[in-house]
Amino acid sequence: MCGIVGYIGPKNTLPILLEGLSRMEYRGYDSAGVALISNGTLLVRKRAGKVADLAKKIQGDGQLPECHVGMGHTRWATHGEPNDVNAHPHTDCKNEIAVIHNGIIENYLAIKTKLQREGHHFSSETDTEAVAHLIEDLYKQTHDLFEAVQLALQEVTGTYGLVVVSTHEPDKIIAARMGSPLILGVGDGENIVAADASAIIQHTRQVVYLEDGEVAEITREGFRTSTIHGAKVKDKRVHEITFELSQIERGGYDHFMMKEINEQPETIRNAMRGRLLVEQGNIKLGGLEHVKDKIFNAKRIILVGCGTSWHAGLVGEYMLEHIAKVPTEVEYASEFRYRNPIITKDDVVFLLSQSGETADTLAALREAKSKGATVLGIVNVVGSTIARESQGGVYIHAGPEIGVASTKAFTSQVTVLAQIAVMAARAKGMTETDAKVLTKELDSLPQKVARVLQDSHLLKKLAQEFKDARNFLYLGRGANFPVALEGALKLKEISYIHAEGYPAAEMKHGPIALIDENMPVVCIVPKDAIYEKVISNVQEVRARRGRIIAIANEDDTEIAKMTEFVVRVPRTYGFFGPIINVIPLQLLSYYIAVARGTNVDQPRNLAKSVTVE
Ligand code: G6P
Repeated sequence: MCGIVGYIGPKNTLPILLEGLSRMEYRGYDSAGVALISNGTLLVRKRAGKVADLAKKIQGDGQLPECHVGMGHTRWATHGEPNDVNAHPHTDCKNEIAVIHNGIIENYLAIKTKLQREGHHFSSETDTEAVAHLIEDLYKQTHDLFEAVQLALQEVTGTYGLVVVSTHEPDKIIAARMGSPLILGVGDGENIVAADASAIIQHTRQVVYLEDGEVAEITREGFRTSTIHGAKVKDKRVHEITFELSQIERGGYDHFMMKEINEQPETIRNAMRGRLLVEQGNIKLGGLEHVKDKIFNAKRIILVGCGTSWHAGLVGEYMLEHIAKVPTEVEYASEFRYRNPIITKDDVVFLLSQSGETADTLAALREAKSKGATVLGIVNVVGSTIARESQGGVYIHAGPEIGVASTKAFTSQVTVLAQIAVMAARAKGMTETDAKVLTKELDSLPQKVARVLQDSHLLKKLAQEFKDARNFLYLGRGANFPVALEGALKLKEISYIHAEGYPAAEMKHGPIALIDENMPVVCIVPKDAIYEKVISNVQEVRARRGRIIAIANEDDTEIAKMTEFVVRVPRTYGFFGPIINVIPLQLLSYYIAVARGTNVDQPRNLAKSVTVE
């Protein structure tokens, strides 16, 4: 949510900012802006729309001079509609201090009202602008930018990843963090600060993570940090970014989402690499070694996440309860944190998050930790806040996921949860022979997923057939109920068609009223233990002339007689089915969105990483 980048160094800054912003555009894309310092003057350019629109505006206005310090922002609006004025950066009255911000300043109205009374002139409806004026006010007292920012932040409540530049002290950038990620890229004679590593990797692989409550002063030569209250911060460790530039590029695909869907055989394999001991019928998860006993003896496992990660948690619940026999609950992070949940030290809480930065999930982590539970992350982004604040965990190693609609992260999260289930089952007495059946099946999943991907042309045809539908229903039972939810979510997110996922049998308690000859109904009907039950539900839809698209196994000879369309998928062990069955649903929503001409990778109103509550 909101991309942030700042650069100081010998290179021409504007192209670096625009390049960084376009790499981070998946974080927010309703407006964008830059601020540069040139010969003691602050140059601010901003624009509603995409980074490309901003670049065009800058070109149209006449090229900006070469500058060596500046910052840029791509916005996901919270306060004030996305327009040119509300776009960041925001400046003080004299256009001497500029601020970009990711997060929410909760007490901005009080600050704004006070400053307006004192004569400050505000131009935008944003919360962020209040910070620019507050720094202006405090700079008059301190004549020190770093200190003025510190003092300002002492008055602010809320969350921020914040970057400030000023003509008062043109040879530095000030950055601060509270709840919204900021990473410092440490270069040779140049430094860069950004909300995520994708804007940094082209310049340096050496990064330093800012912590909550930390302020940094960044110059060409280096940086120093302290807390907002002026306390020293212990030596900052330099980490190395591990992914490659090619991983954040489209690699010949029209969209990141399609690239990521197609990466799944590989990403599912990566989630098991070095962990799946096929012949021993066991699993080794290094990041959980030291808390293994906690997991095996847990009275309860709680899986917490948002969006697609929450759906992965729902699949995890089926697997952990069925395979490992551990009572498991799944919670929306946003509900969990405010419910004052009853948590004990015997609970193990897994936080599921692709980005590792989702504000609600992070807050849930802190809530569970404060109550004594063991908190563990299942996270994709290495070094992200949830990963760092967890007491252990498992990286899903899916590589950067750029498409806003999550695909490969889901299958990798479920793959990791499946492995945790098998590992716990073994510890709790599952025989090697029984476990081997499961580890072999896990091992075969990448190749089965690849088979589904080979048949994607059928989904393309179906998309043509159904692209104008106004509603969709998705039905599944057992572990495939969350797949129905995920299929519906994917369609909503990128094609803007209303869709609902339902447990197939629950349909008759309401949604059945919607079914007529125009209603597409996607039924997930693998040949598992509850096949016959789901078939009864399929018949109920058929009797009301719903247009059924069945996701069924290759060896199901009956299904085609009952449904208008059948998409075939390989058979697997029932509880691992979601990893395969979700693939055609991802493809269907992708092709429908393409057929409708929507922006697949950056659907309206959404953001990839939601760092506000
Ligand atoms: C946003 C994204 C979703 C994602 C959810 C949770 O809503 O658009 O794709 O599933 O956040 O994100 P996380 O990074 O915590 O998995």
